[in-house]
Amino acid sequence: MVFVCICLSLMLGISAALPQDMSGKMFIFPQETNTAHVRLTTSRQNLGAVTVCLRAFTDLSRTYGTFSLSTPTFDNDFLIFKEPQSGEFSVSVRNAGHIFSNQDDKRNEWQSFCATWAAASGLMQLWVNGKPSSIKSTSTLNISGPMIIVLGQDQDSHGGGFNIAQSFVGMMTDVHMWDYVLTPCHIQNYNHKFTYPAGNILNWKSLEFQIIGSVHIQKEQEQC
Ligand SMILES: *[C@@H]1O[C@H](CO)[C@@H](O)[C@H](O)[C@H]1NC(C)=O
Repeated sequence: MVFVCICLSLMLGISAALPQDMSGKMFIFPQETNTAHVRLTTSRQNLGAVTVCLRAFTDLSRTYGTFSLSTPTFDNDFLIFKEPQSGEFSVSVRNAGHIFSNQDDKRNEWQSFCATWAAASGLMQLWVNGKPSSIKSTSTLNISGPMIIVLGQDQDSHGGGFNIAQSFVGMMTDVHMWDYVLTPCHIQNYNHKFTYPAGNILNWKSLEFQIIGSVHIQKEQEQC
């Protein structure tokens, strides 16, 4: 039975990857596809609060998914998404999303994104480049169920349903996820690459992930 299970997971490509220290590295998504993505792993099945932070670099002006967490019940259980309009991003929790307008939307520059939410208040907020958005209401129910987290695509079904017109092209780094709302000070520190606590759900310095399709890893390009 154990043998069968191992074979099955190898065939399905869901064998557990060892955590890697990704400090100073970035994922490169070099082309538009409806397949290429990074899948991140967590064993957590119940979250009453979330903060996700990441940095991204792109020249896209169309829609794209950056961070897409699905459960079998909700494809957008926690999603940070670039909307068609310039400067508009949406955050969804348990499929309840809102648009945040007039945000920084700089292309060909690194931008930092942090999204926070807590079920207790049902409130969420988006921070772009360390600047807070209006606070908006969303789900007061915990995110629960087995979670599939995807970078570089937007899940329209649990682990799939990718749309090439929503694929991310560019680079991404410093992906962290916490099971609490990060303080405004820590979010601003994240933006400035100062000190902040590493994610306790996803930690860039100890990241379990699996690459599917054309995604590359390289050192971040530092200024001389
Ligand atoms: C929701 O999440 C919080 C924090 O993790 C937890 O204490 C609470 O028991 C959860 N509620 C339900 C209904 O699962």
